[in-house]
Amino acid sequence: MRAVVVTAFGGPEVVRVVETELPEPAARQVRIKVAAAALNPVDAGVRAGVFGGAGKQLGLGWDVAGTVDAVGAAGGWSVGDEVVALHYGVVEPLGTHAEYVVVDTDAVARAPRSVDVVAAATLPLNALTAVQALDLLELTSGQSLLVTGAAGAVGGFAVQLAAHRGVSVTALAREGDAELVRSLGASSFTAGAVEPGSVDAVLDAAVLGERALAWVRDGGAFAGVIPKAAPAPVRGVRVGAVEVSADGPRLAELGALVDQGVLTLRVAETYALDEAPKAHARLAEGGVRGRLVLIP
Ligand SMILES: NC(=O)c1ccc[n+]([C@@H]2O[C@H](COP(=O)([O-])OP(=O)(O)OC[C@H]3O[C@@H](n4cnc5c(N)ncnc54)[C@H](OP(=O)(O)O)[C@@H]3O)[C@@H](O)[C@H]2O)c1
Repeated sequence: MRAVVVTAFGGPEVVRVVETELPEPAARQVRIKVAAAALNPVDAGVRAGVFGGAGKQLGLGWDVAGTVDAVGAAGGWSVGDEVVALHYGVVEPLGTHAEYVVVDTDAVARAPRSVDVVAAATLPLNALTAVQALDLLELTSGQSLLVTGAAGAVGGFAVQLAAHRGVSVTALAREGDAELVRSLGASSFTAGAVEPGSVDAVLDAAVLGERALAWVRDGGAFAGVIPKAAPAPVRGVRVGAVEVSADGPRLAELGALVDQGVLTLRVAETYALDEAPKAHARLAEGGVRGRLVLIP
């Protein structure tokens, strides 16, 4: 099969499409025939060497939508099931940017029924990250949340999930994104000016750090998205950072929210698998709204 890998770190030019052996599922794993696989910032990070793994072949791709193609012992899934999954890991030899991928069964969920497979591929990583970041904040209906990077993938899902729970959401995004983030459910918009101590919590998907921590009231809560970059706690604010975990049952709940119209899936552009370097170059240009999706 063909798979997208890096064997040296660098820019989009180090991304290669190689022929490799079809992987076999072990016990409690399934093999998915990939129909679509989103490209995320983490893939650019792996490519650039942010997570290490020098000298190894590193597979790219965490998000997948496709069809179960083979099942290991105690698989729990059947060949032909249409699924989505999160393939977690920064130093794996193969990822979802491939014709087939093997994932653990507990990372898999039935695909949402109301969207096509390209849109479905944009769900797992960023919706799971958003909901797991919201878990850290422990907000209740009526409380206030500021989401930075609200027009992005994590931020956009966070806005929708929080608004759905009755949380009052302020979206921090670029000037041109005001209409978009309001359509996702934000009740207020800011391009950067925020009163210090004015919100119960911040979900910092734009990684603004201490600047965003200052906007949380004393005793409130802050959730970052880069564990190593979380700011030090101040004024009794609980500070945490999400490290996404693959969670099939939770992913199934998120898929159900897609089918209920609560979560919107956004696709920017699609690329053939062989065009992976071009997709990386587009991501590196910045300003993408919605995800770039590879189609084997
Ligand atoms: N810890 C985990 O498990 C985990 C999981 C998933 C993602 N992440 C991380 O979460 C972050 C967000 O991921 P993503 O996929 O949502 O990225 P994304 O889609 O690129 O979204 C980031 C958004 O933030 C905006 N932004 C950045 N700086 C801003 C600023 N100063 N003011 C206003 N808007 C600003 C960006 O706008 P422009 O495009 O115009 O710059 C973009 O809309 C990334 O760092 C990613 O690596 C962590």
